[in-house]
Amino acid sequence: MSSSNQKLIAVIGATGQQGGAVVRALQAQGQFNVRALTRDPGKHRGLADEVVEADLNRPETLKAAFKGAYGAFLVTNFWERGADELKQATAAVRAAKDAGVKHLVWSTLPDVETISGGKLHVPHFTGKAKIDRIVREAGFENYTFVIAPMYYQGLVGALAPQKQADGSLGWALPMDPAVRGIHMGDINELGNIVSGAFAHPDQAGHGEYLPLVGDFLSFNEIIDTLNRQGHKFSFKQVPKEVFAASFPRGGAEAAETFRYFQAHTYLGSNSDHQIALPNKIAGGKATRFSTWARVNFASSAATR
Ligand SMILES: NC(=O)c1ccc[n+]([C@@H]2O[C@H](COP(=O)([O-])OP(=O)(O)OC[C@H]3O[C@@H](n4cnc5c(N)ncnc54)[C@H](OP(=O)(O)O)[C@@H]3O)[C@@H](O)[C@H]2O)c1
Repeated sequence: MSSSNQKLIAVIGATGQQGGAVVRALQAQGQFNVRALTRDPGKHRGLADEVVEADLNRPETLKAAFKGAYGAFLVTNFWERGADELKQATAAVRAAKDAGVKHLVWSTLPDVETISGGKLHVPHFTGKAKIDRIVREAGFENYTFVIAPMYYQGLVGALAPQKQADGSLGWALPMDPAVRGIHMGDINELGNIVSGAFAHPDQAGHGEYLPLVGDFLSFNEIIDTLNRQGHKFSFKQVPKEVFAASFPRGGAEAAETFRYFQAHTYLGSNSDHQIALPNKIAGGKATRFSTWARVNFASSAATR
């Protein structure tokens, strides 16, 4: 229930997967009023207590977007054509600070450049990590870093199994399927971490890193899980050039990302210690892949 006495959280990306999850979790928690931010408020009326225009490419829209907000959730969309994440996030951080936002939650990713000693080039990870310093130095009373994992949803979306040359349905990826390297999760559950961070700045508002991790698997384990549930998915390891060519937009970037997972894991090595705090802040463990898949793969497979 919204109330005029409650503090307000402004959510960038509210119409998308991450921001949408944040809006729903804040609404379920009931401690804050929620302002959904979108480039097209007319299309999304009723999404939250307020729906206000914000375009990260038009900084002049951001003053009104953050006005009166206690907290702000910020995510940038690397995959949006022409997006400059550094420029967008810098503008948003500055506007949020100028508007008096006290607690900023930034959706970041690991710094692949540093982790790989400069060997691997994954701009949608490293580009976000480079923004952490800007958030840290902006002077917010509280700030928190959340890390989205590989979305389970991707496996029934952009990375859904495809018909292979041998007639099977499965994946052809440039990664050793035996290597356990993928931190994964139901992206809807990022919302619980973010709403928990806003509710507990004492525990998570001083630059803590809160990754969402429902599971940590190899591709063999992903496929075994699914095939135990009645599917017959295959896996073929392919050279990165072959994979990149089959996805003309973003294929090379995705291929390098799988190389990174194989070499260092999604969160980077020695990340186990990072997982306890987000579970505590979210109020429970994130959903395991097998549980999520039983519901979500069943329905998607039935439509084939
Ligand atoms: N897929 C994965 O497994 C994965 C894992 C980790 C991280 N990520 C990261 O997640 C990010 C994307 O987040 P998502 O999955 O939540 O995206 P999404 O579901 O595709 O939605 C994109 C959101 O971004 C908003 N947006 C785009 N351009 C904007 C702009 N110029 N100004 C204001 N809002 C803008 C859109 O809002 P409107 O259209 O309503 O304006 C929409 O709400 C990417 O940067 C990606 O690197 C993805």
